[in-house]
Amino acid sequence: MGNKKTTVFVLDDEKSVQESMRMILKDKYQVFTFNRPEEVLTDLSLEPDLIFTDIRMFSMSGLEFLEKIKKMKPQVEVVMITAYPDFSSSLQALRSGAFDYIVKPFGKNQVLETAERALQKRNQVIESTRMIRDLREAINLNYEATTRALVLAVDAKDSYTAEHSRRTSGLLLKIGKRIGIPHSKLIACKRAAELHDIGKIGVEESILRKKGPLTTFEFEKIKQHPVIGYQILRPTAFFGEGLDIVLYHHERNDGTGYPEGLKGKKIPFVARLFAIIDSYDAMRSERCYRGKLSFRETIEEIMREKGRQFESSVVDLVVPHFLKFEKDGDLYRLIETTKE
Ligand SMILES: [Fe+2]
Repeated sequence: MGNKKTTVFVLDDEKSVQESMRMILKDKYQVFTFNRPEEVLTDLSLEPDLIFTDIRMFSMSGLEFLEKIKKMKPQVEVVMITAYPDFSSSLQALRSGAFDYIVKPFGKNQVLETAERALQKRNQVIESTRMIRDLREAINLNYEATTRALVLAVDAKDSYTAEHSRRTSGLLLKIGKRIGIPHSKLIACKRAAELHDIGKIGVEESILRKKGPLTTFEFEKIKQHPVIGYQILRPTAFFGEGLDIVLYHHERNDGTGYPEGLKGKKIPFVARLFAIIDSYDAMRSERCYRGKLSFRETIEEIMREKGRQFESSVVDLVVPHFLKFEKDGDLYRLIETTKE
């Protein structure tokens, strides 16, 4: 395991300890010795893999040093050198993340064997960290490909879904950032928004594509899509609070929405917010049964529905951002240029 590229620091205020450690370790590792902990903490450019440190030093205890170095370089392994078997501080060191301790006077084999074990553990940690990172990446890539496949599956039945999903989730991300929705919650919501109409997969194509007015029976079928979508997505861990968007995006402030007919602030905030974004994009798009509205007409319609379809406080919160984005030419670009 030892090779010249592996770097070991020895930190001890006794020169004799530094020298005997150097003699033991120098054939296998690149060794640097230090008198004071500050020298190590202020310059880690030599990239230590393993540090042997005295547990009792003048300016800072070995335990304090251990805590600091672990904060700065969590993957560096630390072995404490104790002058006598001071069990309580050795134990505390182990609890604080030290790999092991050796007791002075130490033998050559003990030092070499401890170094080897410490470095082995370090390599294992590095390897598993890398594996976790690769797995995360693979999961994310798979997630995106799967999402795309699901959206396209709905799109095949209801051809307006893919573009609408992309634009509304993009708008939610933009506006959510501006109104201070925490990042991790916003990502979950954005993911849910991309799939908010996934439940249409469970509604007959003839109903989704029908040009004329829907019968009560047909509308009852359409009204099931939020619940179907919720049931599809709920078992996965990707959506968190975003599931509220899927389930409640057709609720209305006045309680006439579906599936539950919730009223006002009983409707979760992200769903109240997304309902406005969803309608905004619908009004701004060409549909087979009507032409698209202008930005101005759309905002006027949203204002008219304030307190009826849309909850008032969310309208007041987001309309200024719509106006600002539109003024900067930002919203327009987002809506018009997202075709792939
Ligand atoms: Fe929907």
